Amino acid sequence: MESPMIIQLPKFLDDRGNLSFIEEKKQVPFKIERTYWIYDVPGGEHRGGHAYLNLQEFVVALSGSFDVVLHDGTKEMRFSLNRSYYGLFVPKMMWREIENFSTNSLALILADGKYNEQDYIRDFDTFVSHAHAE
Ligand code: TYD
Repeated sequence: MESPMIIQLPKFLDDRGNLSFIEEKKQVPFKIERTYWIYDVPGGEHRGGHAYLNLQEFVVALSGSFDVVLHDGTKEMRFSLNRSYYGLFVPKMMWREIENFSTNSLALILADGKYNEQDYIRDFDTFVSHAHAE
């Protein structure tokens, strides 16, 4: 099983401001098939509450901050994202919640597959059974 990992992104700083970038199979260890973003999250709300059987993702706090809480079926790990030059690689088979969104936060998510509801596990106990069977 692969582990989640914070990856530092390239950063070009000059008097005009900052620039960072992501190239597939370089900063992210997969081919990017889909990009989506989460924004305008009301205070106190959380997102996620599911795992993917096969999908891998890479999460960047492009603006503001939030916590990505991952569970591998045995233990929980919390990653606070608050800089646009860090990303979190999320391997497949990780229960995922995103919470503590700051005002105006913007979560960019890169994924290695198209949206596929069949790939979701939306029940935590089912996820834990799957994780322990692997
Ligand atoms: P959902 O998985 O509940 O979002 P989150 O993981 O942030 O809690 O997705 C919300 C809705 O958006 C759901 O009806 C499915 C749809 N959706 C797509 O159509 N395409 C996508 O790429 C994503 C991520 C979601």
